[in-house]
Amino acid sequence: DLFNSDDFKEFLSNDEINRANKIKIVEKRHQFIISRGVVKKLLSTLLKKEVDQIEFLYSQYGKPFINEKYNNHAIEFNISHSGIYGLIAITLDNKIGVDIQKIDPEVDYNSLSARFFSDNEKNELMKLDKNKRKDAFYLGWVRKESFIKAIGMGVAYGLDRFSVSLNKNDNANIVISDFENKKWHCYDLIEFNNYKTALTTCENKIDIVISQ
Ligand SMILES: CC(C)(COP(=O)(O)OP(=O)(O)OC[C@H]1O[C@@H](n2cnc3c(N)ncnc32)[C@H](O)[C@@H]1OP(=O)(O)O)[C@@H](O)C(=O)NCCC(=O)NCCS
Repeated sequence: DLFNSDDFKEFLSNDEINRANKIKIVEKRHQFIISRGVVKKLLSTLLKKEVDQIEFLYSQYGKPFINEKYNNHAIEFNISHSGIYGLIAITLDNKIGVDIQKIDPEVDYNSLSARFFSDNEKNELMKLDKNKRKDAFYLGWVRKESFIKAIGMGVAYGLDRFSVSLNKNDNANIVISDFENKKWHCYDLIEFNNYKTALTTCENKIDIVISQ
């Protein structure tokens, strides 16, 4: 409710407006317009350019990126949206992926974890008390999604090919897996009003600055 999508349409390219117009579900259309608009506005401020000069390109797997540099540093960003929230991460000379998920009290975590989790994760989930499983499932979900988004392959990588911890006390620094001979680290960001969030990067020590 904080943002009105009409205020952000002017920041979108014609292609993006066409894409938005094809999104049938009103909530998802607003998510797309607002998160695109906000990230383009942030990038234009960082680069001291007009918003309409910020052009998104797409990787083979659909990850949006820009070719611009900030003081000779490569800019990387990632977007996630769920319910009424959007999550945007921007970094320099690094790979980054973020995920936010609204917790659905009715979620069938048994069938979703059977389909998407690795064997280790399925075992870890089943060892927990039943009343802790939903929370652990969502924690695993956002951590896994943030990883496949950081590497840029999305679901094409295969969600069951790697494991994350489902323990929230492992929050600080989880080494997820090796990919392209790099180590990836996953951080929980903020937990609020039944949402879970995670961020994955490729560097070991990063300072995360959160603005709401
Ligand atoms: C892109 C993907 C990784 C995540 O999609 P999602 O969880 O539905 O949506 P999110 O809101 O978190 O992320 C969407 C954003 O990711 C970005 N994105 C798209 N493709 C991407 C890719 N290959 N890598 C990284 N980011 C990508 C886009 O910016 C997109 O937002 P936009 O279209 O508004 O610009 C997709 O591959 C996907 O469908 N995942 C499956 C989700 C699932 O069922 N998980 C089960 C877990 S138990």
